[in-house]
Amino acid sequence: MHVATLASEDDFDGWRTAARTLALAGVAPDAVVWQVGDQPADLFADQPAPDAPSGAFSVPRPFVDLARRALCHRDPERFALLYTLLTRIRAQPKLLDDQADPLVRRIEHLAKDVRRDMHKMRAFVRFREIAVDGAEPRYVAWFEPDNHIVRANADFFARRFTTMHWSILTPELSVHWDGDTLAFTPGAHRADAPDGDPLEETWKTYYAAIFNPARVKVGAMTKEMPRKYWKNMLETALVPELLASAQKRESGMIAAAHADIGGNARVSWEALREESGGCTRCPLYGPATQTVFGEGPTDARLMFVGEQPGDQEDIAGRPFVGPAGQVFDRAITAAGIDRARVYVTNAVKHFKFEPRGKRRIHAKPAGPEIDACRWWLDQERVLVRPPVTVALGATAARALLGRVVTISKSRGTAITLPDGGECWVTVHPSYLLRLPDRVQAEEEYARFVEDLTTARNRAEAFA
Ligand code: URA
Repeated sequence: MHVATLASEDDFDGWRTAARTLALAGVAPDAVVWQVGDQPADLFADQPAPDAPSGAFSVPRPFVDLARRALCHRDPERFALLYTLLTRIRAQPKLLDDQADPLVRRIEHLAKDVRRDMHKMRAFVRFREIAVDGAEPRYVAWFEPDNHIVRANADFFARRFTTMHWSILTPELSVHWDGDTLAFTPGAHRADAPDGDPLEETWKTYYAAIFNPARVKVGAMTKEMPRKYWKNMLETALVPELLASAQKRESGMIAAAHADIGGNARVSWEALREESGGCTRCPLYGPATQTVFGEGPTDARLMFVGEQPGDQEDIAGRPFVGPAGQVFDRAITAAGIDRARVYVTNAVKHFKFEPRGKRRIHAKPAGPEIDACRWWLDQERVLVRPPVTVALGATAARALLGRVVTISKSRGTAITLPDGGECWVTVHPSYLLRLPDRVQAEEEYARFVEDLTTARNRAEAFA
């Protein structure tokens, strides 16, 4: 039996060196014990060392990326699984393309968990200021990740909070940034992190400003936000108070939020989009490939809201690029609208589907999924503040208006949204694709273009 010892739970370089040595020596996966500890790697402990392996081999880049992620998983079997995959990939370089292979699927699952955990950390870490007399203020956050992701995520925080001096304490490993260098120290206790301070107040102000009391379902909050993060989040303390002053707050809500983020909408939007990548507010994130966030300039005067990404959008990570997107593109062009100048998004940011053989068939999002996803749409709207919004279909209309509407009844007149913007309801482009009668399809298409032209004219009035 060979023993491979890694320096830490996330020691990818150590794993790679050991795995390469073992693979070159032709050691079978079931003849290796992987362990994490302080002792130096002793790859051939209980056996006479084989001749020093020589030569090198390369593996496909996607394997390295996948292995780097999956290795951060807490699953104790991950080192062995990855070594098995490595040995199989040497014989079958295209193995990763085989999505039906159980080992490939299992490891991709591990990598997906890790990616999600990293996004959660980015979304839920909240720094609190520690004042130290005469010294630079230091910001400290407490976080409890599910996997060994602290080191893998450290660069992100260094880039994002580059001018601050900060520490993120976690039970297993803590990371510190002094404006120049990242340092790692052993894990900490929750009690080591501070409890409240001015930054907390800033965050509360921001959260309060984007909070839409009409849309809160207190009972649903546990589903939307993993409960384990509640205790670290300041928002949750605010909910009862915000609900109580609901009416008063609503009017100034959008303006206050924008003022609070300092007007740098693009930077905030990028952060928001990044956070949405880790969204687990409803179960749709599970089977979907990725979050498909909105896109377009943050100073767009016209926003389009669709239903949810389709099969192609789910893969591309961009809204309206599949068949419905082609109809949409053709129609907006006919209405004199330049897609590069409008903001295009969806009410629901994950693809909901039912598998049928190898195909994924679109499934309509349910009310709770639309409600859960409003969190993102509301924040996109706070940042873009479009004076004119087009709801493409009933799901979009429901998300924007907070109630179920009939397209035929609400079409053709502007509806005022809570933030003061105009909402124009029209059909969804995929409705046009489904019409079997050609004459009717052409008539409906022309009506759709008319609706879009009206919206364009309205948006131009706000130039
Ligand atoms: N349908 C939508 O509503 N949105 C997309 O992004 C694609 C299809």
